[in-house]
Amino acid sequence: MSLVPTQHQRVLSGMRPTGPLHLGHYHGVLKNWVKLQHEYECFFFVADWHALTTHYEDPRIIADSTQDMVIDWLATGVSPGASKIFIQSRVPEHAELHLLLSMITPLGWLERVPTYKDQQAELKEKDLATYGFLGYPLLQSADILVYKAGQVPVGDDQVAHVELTREVARRFNHIYGREPGFEEKAEAAVKKMGKKDAKLYRDLRKRYTEQGDQQALDVAQALLENQQNISLGDRERLFGFLEGSGKIILPEPQALLTPASKMPGLDGRKMSKSYRNAISLREDPDEIAKKLRTMPTDTNRVRRTDPGDPKLCPVWKLHEVYSDDATKKWVKQGCTTAGIGCVDCKQPIIDAVIAELKPIRERAKDYIDDPSAVQAIIDEGCEAARDVARDTLDEVRKVMCLSR
Ligand code: TRP
Ligand code: SF4
Repeated sequence: MSLVPTQHQRVLSGMRPTGPLHLGHYHGVLKNWVKLQHEYECFFFVADWHALTTHYEDPRIIADSTQDMVIDWLATGVSPGASKIFIQSRVPEHAELHLLLSMITPLGWLERVPTYKDQQAELKEKDLATYGFLGYPLLQSADILVYKAGQVPVGDDQVAHVELTREVARRFNHIYGREPGFEEKAEAAVKKMGKKDAKLYRDLRKRYTEQGDQQALDVAQALLENQQNISLGDRERLFGFLEGSGKIILPEPQALLTPASKMPGLDGRKMSKSYRNAISLREDPDEIAKKLRTMPTDTNRVRRTDPGDPKLCPVWKLHEVYSDDATKKWVKQGCTTAGIGCVDCKQPIIDAVIAELKPIRERAKDYIDDPSAVQAIIDEGCEAARDVARDTLDEVRKVMCLSR
């Protein structure tokens, strides 16, 4: 497996702009991004081309949601100082790499990705028998590989896409990583490590290639990670040489599984725009209170005097997210003895959600009032992303004999 040295690992993730963000995005994705941006070099982008694969008939929604989405990211703490924030369609290298990867991607690999059939079945009202939709996961591979990202934070529905990316990268490296004189170049690179490390590398490589000693491979990879004196190109050669393959041009990424957040919606199912059970990040306090006051409770609790069962109640799931132990105890006790009414029970949640969203709404308002500041952040992120993407494409074109 061809890993990027950990200390250089980039994190990359994207989101499709198809509507307003809600509490599910906040708890499930954005809080995680905010944490990661302090640990890694992060790239976060608006996947507007991906949105177009399913919303090609109403592209207006995509344009409108794009700016709002970036504002919501900023308002929840994604920081332009700590991460690169950009728009997919403003970095045309994603499209060029997608095209080039399409040359080597067997159709069956795309047809077999589970989301392809699943989504077609789920979105029956749309005609998704398109070339673009089939290519959705490959475009995602290009998104990832163009930045040589090592870690891709995604939900479990996207793991298959990262898996495809790894297969495509492996195939690419296999076909195009065989530069002329590879062995000689690798040998020369080994010497550059210095006598001691060079000997260690050779011994470890031998143990791995001749005896399949996995531990030797791990140690050798760690050794390469810590080399200060060799160029990036030599490092890639040595990683490849170690495993008996060619030069690694596109490293294989790993899915960084987002801790399963099943932020409950107003009906107890997972919060989702399509279930119409969401509270958006921009929702005003009156609307939040109204939505929560009218949300369903344990259906067996018809009258105030009937005892209820929190386990059968969507409100309880929200207490599990928002309430401390004392409040939860109060709910259990009060509900099962009909000591409290459902209106009482919901009040701490109403307060908690409003308090949680207050600073987010305020920060969002500052950005809404200053669209040129948002544009400047996006422009800067796009430029920084393009710098990296251009370098990768230079390399990719070169090995595919397309350089000018
Ligand atoms: N397909 C992803 C989703 O629906 C969005 C996405 C596009 C993405 N490109 C990506 C996520 C690259 C991670 C990496 O959630
Ligand atoms: Fe649900 Fe609370 Fe009403 Fe019990 S008291 S049914 S937990 S809303």
